[in-house]
Amino acid sequence: MAKRILILASGTGSLAAAILQSIQDRELDLEVARVISDRPAPVLDLVKKFGVASTLIEYSKFESRAAWSAQMENVVASDKVDLVVSVGFMRILPASFIEKFSIINIHPALLPFFPGAHAIRDALLAGATESGTTVHWMDSGVDTGKVISQIKVQVEVGDTEESLHERIKIQERNLIVETLKRYAHVGLEK
Ligand code: GAR
Repeated sequence: MAKRILILASGTGSLAAAILQSIQDRELDLEVARVISDRPAPVLDLVKKFGVASTLIEYSKFESRAAWSAQMENVVASDKVDLVVSVGFMRILPASFIEKFSIINIHPALLPFFPGAHAIRDALLAGATESGTTVHWMDSGVDTGKVISQIKVQVEVGDTEESLHERIKIQERNLIVETLKRYAHVGLEK
């Protein structure tokens, strides 16, 4: 039986779409229980086209971070998934959530370099000649968990945040799908 995953995403959802497309094309043997966003974002409409449940747990509508987190934990726990996959989820998850579930995250830099919310800008400001993307286990730090897989991307002369991010995202779509294939077949070492 296929392993069950749940996807967290906050934005356009091109990485979530790459995962769902690979499953639809039968290249990736996983079942997606649900996609959750913390804000009304294009990803929520996009996943409906794949016939997957999408749920908005809107951070700004909750009285406190604890109340939002409790709702997140309830929904994820009720789906009984094997793995939570964070692809462009732009909110730091509370420690209680991270302790409860196995979570992987994709980050647009070669960790441990350029963690945090502005990885592309930081790489350009530092004058890096290469950056890339990393899939890692999520722990309670910001992008500090054990690295699972990485792909390098060269920084080109004249790159802007947008141009570099677009080239990184092409590799990210590859990396997350290939990493999940490994997860589906043999699992990922913690
Ligand atoms: C990706 O580049 C992902 O690495 C990044 O958000 C983008 C999502 O793209 N995540 C982070 O920066 C997390 N700190 P998408 O909305 O097109 O899938």
